[in-house]
Amino acid sequence: MLHREAFAILALAACAAAPALGQDDAIEEGERLYQRLCATCHSLEEGRNLVGPSLHDVVGREAGIVEGFRYSSAMQEADITWVPEEIKAFIEAPREYLPGTRMAFTGVRDEEDRDAIVAYLDSETEGWDGGEDGATDGEDADGETDGTEESGGTDAEHGTPEDTDDG
Ligand code: HEC
Repeated sequence: MLHREAFAILALAACAAAPALGQDDAIEEGERLYQRLCATCHSLEEGRNLVGPSLHDVVGREAGIVEGFRYSSAMQEADITWVPEEIKAFIEAPREYLPGTRMAFTGVRDEEDRDAIVAYLDSETEGWDGGEDGATDGEDADGETDGTEESGGTDAEHGTPEDTDDG
């Protein structure tokens, strides 16, 4: 896991340099909302599953893949990648968005609140380059190592078991 720490340091450096000024308020507000609405069930720590799966690096992640967490079959079978707009749609009305989900949460009605929460999650996520929002214009030039962490496939050489889906 040493390489992960190295990566974290790189990512922190990248974050510090990112021109995210306009986002700062939203991120702060998002953190407050996250603590109030989500943190009882979700940790941002890697591998730390509570009632809900860890949301470590959730932005850009595939749905239903946190190891050791028992998802609903709806979530396991869902073909979702948690880009910001999917997270927003999900937390607006979890059980309408994904019938059968075990996330017992009524939803965040306020669009600004959803935006803020996702801005916060995005700020806590390493290795996600922003996709749709174009928030990271110009950051790509130095992104040599970006994405290798997220892509999964490249981990095969480390012997990561990919086939633990029995249950
Ligand atoms: C009452 C507990 C609870 C609360 C509160 C809650 N969640 Fe969840 N969440 C869950 C559970 C349980 C799952 C797994 C759902 C499933 O398997 O169908 C989940 C799944 C998720 C997922 C999918 C994760 C993955 O690995 O695919 C995301 C994203 C998510 N929640 C975000 C949030 C956000 C953001 C909030 C706050 C606005 C929130 N949740 C509030 C319990 C909760």
